Amino acid sequence: MKVTLSVIKADIGGYVGHSASHPQIKDHARSILENAKKGKKIFDYEVLSCGDDLNLVLTHGRGEDSEEIHALAWRTFEECTEKARELKLYGVGQDLLSDTFSGNIKGLGPGFVEIEFEERESEPVIIFMADKTSPGAWNYTVYKIFADPFNTIGLVIDPSMHNGFYFDVLDVFEDKIVTFKTPEELYDMLVFVGTTEHYCVKDVRKEEGGEVVAASTTQKLNIMAGRYVGKDDPVLIVRAQHGFPAVGEILEPFTMPHLVEGWMRGSHRGPLMPVSFEHATPSRFDGPPRVIAAGFQLANGKLIGPRDHFDDPAFDEARKKANLVADYMRAHGPFEPHRLPLDEMEYTTLPEVKKRLEGRFKAVK
Ligand code: 13P
Ligand code: 13P
Ligand code: MG
Ligand code: MG
Repeated sequence: MKVTLSVIKADIGGYVGHSASHPQIKDHARSILENAKKGKKIFDYEVLSCGDDLNLVLTHGRGEDSEEIHALAWRTFEECTEKARELKLYGVGQDLLSDTFSGNIKGLGPGFVEIEFEERESEPVIIFMADKTSPGAWNYTVYKIFADPFNTIGLVIDPSMHNGFYFDVLDVFEDKIVTFKTPEELYDMLVFVGTTEHYCVKDVRKEEGGEVVAASTTQKLNIMAGRYVGKDDPVLIVRAQHGFPAVGEILEPFTMPHLVEGWMRGSHRGPLMPVSFEHATPSRFDGPPRVIAAGFQLANGKLIGPRDHFDDPAFDEARKKANLVADYMRAHGPFEPHRLPLDEMEYTTLPEVKKRLEGRFKAVK
């Protein structure tokens, strides 16, 4: 049976500040999606949040880029925005850049990632959702899962993974995709994916142009809008087991809380901390950036789950390390590399300050 798994997400208002999504908003989203399920528009749904981002997980039989599914998500966000307005939540409608829906959610502000596939005999899927960071945050993760034998022993000892994977890498600024085959082209690929603000791994496949094993949201909200509209907090879907990486291999990269862009005002670098659903609520300096891992087994399109994979003492040391790194990075205050370079900051007073001080810059004799 063919299933499409769509995760569509938006920040439609924060509770309190940018720290969480309000329970009433999530309940409202659930009631809309429950009706859609009863009306057979979708097979199943789950509503989750990471920080102030509302994530709609949908399974259906309508394929990728379905107008009906995108319209359903858009209507859900619009109605939830109305609720957020009533509660006077913070940054109401932050990610909704348009007043009208015209067939596809692309370019309208929400992030989305969709994979259509033939549901396997057993179909375990992990959905990572992050807050206070941006799509390039997954480059390290995806590289570790699909190309690093020190992370994924399956690359060495599972005959069905031994040939490696194909990575489709998006140039976010040029809107172009290049495909790399690993392990053969690993070093070439790392030249690009190590530059996380410019190149993002969009998806991973076993055969070139073939079935998608992992896929991520790659929207750059700030570029789309040409003005500050919040960091485009990203989602990553990874299918697991039976020729794909095992669940434990997929979770393993998060034992290292790598530095990502985002955090306070979308203008800093900080460690990505793996947390339980309960702790997916950025606090210190609006962070540190957080990630949750929601696991599901699909059963004829039904979402069996979620399992809260980071609600586990095995990730305590990673959290501890993330807090130590947070202390160290915070001690730099407004200095790089904690604060991002000027051209990457989302809030920037540079043009104003430069203009005001224009006459005071004198040529060096
Ligand atoms: P099982 O033999 O329990 O399926 O485990 C295999 C595996 O992939 C462990 O990560
Ligand atoms: P969000 O992108 O999660 O809304 O955060 C914005 C921000 O400015 C946090 O300090
Ligand atoms: Mg926000
Ligand atoms: Mg957010």
